[in-house]
Amino acid sequence: MNNKIKIIIGGLLIIVVIGIIFVKSLDNEENINLKKVERKDFDMNNKIVMLNNGYEMPIIGLGTWQLNGEVAENSVYEAIKNGYRLIDTAYWYGNEENVGRAVRKAIDEGLIKRDEIFITTKLPPYGFSDYEKAIDECNERLGLDYIDLMMVHQSGSDEKKLYKAIENKIKEGIVKTLGISNYYTKEDFIDITKDATIMPAVIQNENHIYYNNKEFQDYVSEYGIIIESYYPLGGRGHTNESLNNEVINDIKSNYQKTSAQVILRWHLQSGFIVIPGSSNKEHIKENIDVFDFELTSEEMNKINNLNTKKRYENW
Ligand SMILES: NC(=O)c1ccc[n+]([C@@H]2O[C@H](COP(=O)([O-])OP(=O)(O)OC[C@H]3O[C@@H](n4cnc5c(N)ncnc54)[C@H](OP(=O)(O)O)[C@@H]3O)[C@@H](O)[C@H]2O)c1
Repeated sequence: MNNKIKIIIGGLLIIVVIGIIFVKSLDNEENINLKKVERKDFDMNNKIVMLNNGYEMPIIGLGTWQLNGEVAENSVYEAIKNGYRLIDTAYWYGNEENVGRAVRKAIDEGLIKRDEIFITTKLPPYGFSDYEKAIDECNERLGLDYIDLMMVHQSGSDEKKLYKAIENKIKEGIVKTLGISNYYTKEDFIDITKDATIMPAVIQNENHIYYNNKEFQDYVSEYGIIIESYYPLGGRGHTNESLNNEVINDIKSNYQKTSAQVILRWHLQSGFIVIPGSSNKEHIKENIDVFDFELTSEEMNKINNLNTKKRYENW
């Protein structure tokens, strides 16, 4: 082979390599506008985790779906009295005003300060002409000066517009943290974050002993994102299946704990934030009493193996 041919082949090889690098750089995942960071471990003593934006979030909270009016108000107040510092609501739940009223009552009585409680709300990505205004309205209904975590409630036609509006409200200081909900695949995650300038800190998904998000958790962990479990006890109408599960019953007999406590502890030890819903004073008290025992790795594995990979919901 003479030198001329060698130079041509060498040149072609360089062009191919540059081409491969260029095509790879166009790949969504590589092109993601957001940097990878380490996910922090849960601080079980203080019941908090440091999010990827530097804010601390409580790892256990009260869910308020289907709690209306005074029931929502009393449950939130009861939760705060029992040490809860995270409350989950949403525009769709129709109880933002009640949640806000209960929190203000607790603040007025000196039980907590505003910066000691973490409020999450969510907006659907359709049905609004102006999403920044819709966020302001959530903030007004809550009446707590700012929203700790605002989520895109699920995928939908205006998801990018809503995402952008949340980013803008973070810049204004009305919202502190951005989250998304009901996103279960790498593809959907890449799609919604394609034009993002702020990484979601939390993804709230259906997540329980029969459908766990562990694989997805491994992926989003690269961005420091925490999965927050909704339906942690299986959700209304399905809690018996979880609470009466044989494996759970066996494990609870090793501790003086209830099925709900064993399941909630499994979520926490798995690195999932939990927000069990309840309007029952005893349950509210019971559900946060999960920091004085620890499941063994064998028990954790037994619960992990209950995964059927089937969700109850399809939204
Ligand atoms: N992002 C989303 O799309 C989405 C969807 C659904 C839910 N969520 C959020 O996630 C939260 C949790 O989900 P969820 O409330 O639907 O389901 P869940 O927490 O799995 O289950 C709630 C049910 O469990 C019962 N319960 C609670 N503690 C118990 C205990 N210690 N022993 C026995 N039963 C107990 C409650 O009844 P009692 O009232 O009698 O205690 C209620 O019927 C919601 O409240 C909401 O904030 C988000």
